[in-house]
Amino acid sequence: MAQFETLVVPIDSVIDLLSVTHAPEVIQRYREAMDSGASFPPISVIRAGRRFIVADGHKRLSACKQRGMAQVMVQVWSWRMLAGDQARQFARSTTRLVSLLWGSIHDPGMRPWLRKFYWDTILHWRRFLSALPASLGLAERRQGGDCGARPEGTFFRLVRECARFPRHLVVITVSLAALGAAQLYLTWIAKLWADGPLRTGDHRALHALAVRASLSCIVLILGLFFSRYFLQSLNQHLVQALRDRAQRRLLDVELSSVRRFEVGELMSRMFNDAGALTQFVREILRRGIGETFVLAGSLIMIVRLEWRLAAIIALVGPPVYLLLSYCGAYVRRRSAEAQQEVGALSASFTQQLAGLSTIKGFQTEAAEQRVFERKDSLYRRHAMRSQFWLALMTTGVWALTFAALLAVVWYGTSLVALGRVTPGVLFAFCLYAVQTVEPVRRLGEVHGLTQQALAAASRVFEIIDLGPVEHDDGVALPDAIEGALSFEGVDFQFPSGRSVLRKLSFTVAPRETVAIVAASGGGKSTIANLMLRFLAPTGGRILLDGIDIQDARLSQLRRAICVVEQDPFIFSGSLFDNLRYGSPDAEAERVSDAIALAGLERFLAALPAGLDTQLAESGRNISGGQYQRIALARAIVRDPAVLVLDEATSAVDSETEQGIFERIAPWLARRTVLVMTHRLSTVMRFPRVIVLSEGAIAGDGNPALLMRTCPVFQRLFAEQIAPMAGREAPVI
Ligand SMILES: Nc1ncnc2c1ncn2[C@@H]1O[C@H](COP(=O)(O)OP(=O)(O)O)[C@@H](O)[C@H]1O
Ligand SMILES: [Mg+2]
Repeated sequence: MAQFETLVVPIDSVIDLLSVTHAPEVIQRYREAMDSGASFPPISVIRAGRRFIVADGHKRLSACKQRGMAQVMVQVWSWRMLAGDQARQFARSTTRLVSLLWGSIHDPGMRPWLRKFYWDTILHWRRFLSALPASLGLAERRQGGDCGARPEGTFFRLVRECARFPRHLVVITVSLAALGAAQLYLTWIAKLWADGPLRTGDHRALHALAVRASLSCIVLILGLFFSRYFLQSLNQHLVQALRDRAQRRLLDVELSSVRRFEVGELMSRMFNDAGALTQFVREILRRGIGETFVLAGSLIMIVRLEWRLAAIIALVGPPVYLLLSYCGAYVRRRSAEAQQEVGALSASFTQQLAGLSTIKGFQTEAAEQRVFERKDSLYRRHAMRSQFWLALMTTGVWALTFAALLAVVWYGTSLVALGRVTPGVLFAFCLYAVQTVEPVRRLGEVHGLTQQALAAASRVFEIIDLGPVEHDDGVALPDAIEGALSFEGVDFQFPSGRSVLRKLSFTVAPRETVAIVAASGGGKSTIANLMLRFLAPTGGRILLDGIDIQDARLSQLRRAICVVEQDPFIFSGSLFDNLRYGSPDAEAERVSDAIALAGLERFLAALPAGLDTQLAESGRNISGGQYQRIALARAIVRDPAVLVLDEATSAVDSETEQGIFERIAPWLARRTVLVMTHRLSTVMRFPRVIVLSEGAIAGDGNPALLMRTCPVFQRLFAEQIAPMAGREAPVI
C-alpha cells in the first residue's frame, strides 16, 4: 500500500470540478453520518500549485461543504496514482457491466440490476454535464444544502432593500452621472484649450473656456459632494434597517431558535456582516454607476478622437483584463483568508478576556501571549500576502498603461507631424486613455465585491428570516388569575432525543406553595421553561386555571407567571431600575417592600449611592448571593400570580436564606409558588414536596413523611438528613 502525504487544508483551497455529480440523498446520508460523529477517510486530491483538485471523494467533500466545515483532511496523490485509480475504476465498471450483461442473458433476475446500473451511470453523467457550465465558471455555481438563501434570491432581495430608498437612489444616480459627465467634459475643454488659446494666445477664447471649465468644476464638486454624502446615507439607512429588523426578529422568535446560535456568531452577523454588506453595496453602486459612466464616455471619446490611436489602446485591453481577473481572484482569496485569521484572532482575544482570572490563576499568561502572537502574525502574513499581489497587480496595470501611452505618444506625434491630428486631440486622447484605467481596475473588482456582499447578506437575512415567531393570540386568561396549576401527563423530550419528563402529572391548588426536588439535571428548570412556554411539552398539557397554557395568550401567560432563575440576568443601570425591570410603573414603596422581603436591606444600607448605585452588566460588581436576591426582589416587585423559584437562593448562605423565607412567607401565601431547591432546611419549611426521579414523580407529600418513606428523597438529602434528625414537624 502506497504511503500518501496527508494534510489538513482549508476547504476553499480544494477545487471540486464535479461538485454535483452525485445524488443529493447520498450527500445527505454522508452529512448525517458526520453529524452523528462518524469520521471519514481523507479526500484524495492532486496538487496543482497551491490548490488541490479532487481526484476521489467528491461526495464526502460535498457533505463537508454542506456541513459548513472550514477544513478538510486530504490525501495528496500523484498523477500516476490518479491514472492508476481511474484505470482500476474503469476496469471495475466494465467488468461489472459485462458480468451483468452476461448474467442477464441467463438469469432474468439480474435484469433489474442491469437497469439500475444503466440508470445510475446515465444519471451520473447527466449530473456531470449539467454541472459543467458551473465548473467552468459560465454559470452561477449551485449552492448546496442549507447554506442560507440562494444567491440569486439574495441578490434581488438586496436590490429590493435598496429600492426602499428611491430618493437616495435618484440623487446618487444623478450626482454620479453629473460627476462623470463633468470629468469627461473637463478633458474636452483641455483639448479645446490646447488647440485654441494655448496655440493662438486668444484671450477672449481663453476667457470663454475658463467660464465653461469653472461651471464644469462646480458641477463636478456638487456631484462629488452629493454622491459621497448620499451613498454614505443610503449605506447607513440600509445597515440600520437590516440591523433593526434582525434585532427585532431575535426578540420575537422562540428562545430555542436564538439559542441555536453562539453569541459571538450573532454578534458577528449583526455588526460585521450587516456593516460589510452595506459597505459593499455602496462600493458596487459607486462603481456600477459612476465608473461605468466614465469608462463608457472615455472609450467613446478615444474612438471618436482618433481610431488609429484607439486601436493601440485596444491592444493592451486583453492583457490588462487577464491580469486583473487572475491577480484579482488571487488577491480576493488571500484577503478572505486574512479575514478568517482576524476572526480567529478576535475569538482568541475574547476568550482570553473572559477567562482572565483563570489565566492568571493558572499562570498561563506566557502561553496565552504566544497563542495570540502566533495568530496575530499569521494574520499579518496573510494580509501582507494579499497586499503584495495587489501592489503587483496595480503596478502591472500601470506598466501596461504606460507602455500603451508611450506607443500612443510615439505614433500620435508622427500623426501630428503629418497634420492628420491636432496636438490638442493627442493631448485629450492621452487624458481620456488614462481615465479608462482606474474604472477598468475598479470594475474588475465588482464581481468579487458582489460575491462578498451576497455572502454577508445571506447571513444577515438568515437572522431576519429566523422562525418560528411567537404569536400573541389565543385564549385570554381571566383578569384575576387564581393560580391553579395542573400538569397532565406532561412528556418532554429534547430534539436530541433526551427524554427529561415522562408522563408527569400533579396539581397545585391556588395559593399553595410546593417544593420540587430532584437531582441536578432532573428536569426542574425544564418545568420552569415549559411553564413560560420557552419549551413546548412533547406530550400532555399544562393547565393554568383550567386553560391549556399552549392555547393561552402568551403576553398574559408571561405576565401571570414569573420565574426566578438560578443564574438570572441583571442589566447595567441603577439598582432601582433593575428592581423595576418589567414593572416600570411600580411605586417606590413596592420596591422598598421587595427589598425588605428579599433580605437586601443590609446590602442597600452599605451602598453609598443607595438605590442609585450603578450595577455593571450581569452584576459583575456584586456577589452571587446579592445578585440572586436582587433577582428575587425584581420578581416580588412584578407581583405575579404564580412564582417559580428555580434554585433562586442557591448562592445565598443558609442562614440568610432561612431569614428570607421566614419574612417572605406571608407574601408567598397569597400566590401559587413552586420552589425548586437543593437545601433540606428550605424543603422542610413547606408542607408539600414533590420528588422527581427519572422525569416522573417518586414522592409527593409532607417532607417529614417523605424522609421516612421515600428512598429517592432520602438519597437526595442523605448528607443533610443526619444533622437534621429529630427536627420538629414542619411549619411554614
Ligand atoms: N438543549 C438541550 N438539549 C438536550 N438536553 C438538554 C438541553 N438542555 C438541558 N438538557 C438536559 O435536560 C436535563 C434537565 O435539565 P434541567 O431541567 O436544567 O435540570 P435541573 O434544572 O433539574 O438541574 C439535563 O440532563 C440536561 O442535560
Ligand atoms: Mg436547573
